[in-house]
Amino acid sequence: MNILLADAQATLRLGITLGQNLTAGSVILLEGDLGTGKTTLVQGIGQGLDTTGLIVSPTFTLINEYTEGRIPLYHLDLYRLEPSEVLALNLETYWEGVEVMPGIVAIEWAERMPYKPNSYLSLVLTYGEEGTRQAKITPFNFSISDFVGLD
Ligand SMILES: Nc1ncnc2c1ncn2[C@@H]1O[C@H](COP(=O)(O)OP(=O)(O)OP(=O)(O)O)[C@@H](O)[C@H]1O
Ligand SMILES: [Mg+2]
Repeated sequence: MNILLADAQATLRLGITLGQNLTAGSVILLEGDLGTGKTTLVQGIGQGLDTTGLIVSPTFTLINEYTEGRIPLYHLDLYRLEPSEVLALNLETYWEGVEVMPGIVAIEWAERMPYKPNSYLSLVLTYGEEGTRQAKITPFNFSISDFVGLD
């Protein structure tokens, strides 16, 4: 599914829809060049979940956790890492929700992942005409009912 995101508000709204509808254990893998709107989309997810507090890019902190919303949000940014370093993070801890409370896992720069979960929603953001963005959304073993409300 391809969606035109005409401005930053549209990216935010897509995130809000996801945040309102996704269930705990959902993994959102975000790919796309610098500045295509990955963090903006995760800010929308946070709003849709009713998290409090500003969602900021975890480029330096690697992961930010927001646990006050409907379900927890784990926001990761792998930009600065090599795949071998990503391997050492044992990211499955987050999507298995065994040692952490199950929630939504949103990962920027998912290109850096040496392996992916069994089930996830892929979002690839690209630059469109006149400063717009395009989102290509592809579910992988991911139930369509998990994102009803997307039209
Ligand atoms: N659909 C859109 N149309 C135009 N501008 C947008 C759109 N979505 C987001 N933006 C703007 O693009 C800029 C970069 O957004 P953002 O920081 O979310 O990108 P990013 O992909 O997370 O970047 P990075 O690769 O550095 O992590 C921001 O100014 C944001 O408001
Ligand atoms: Mg970002």
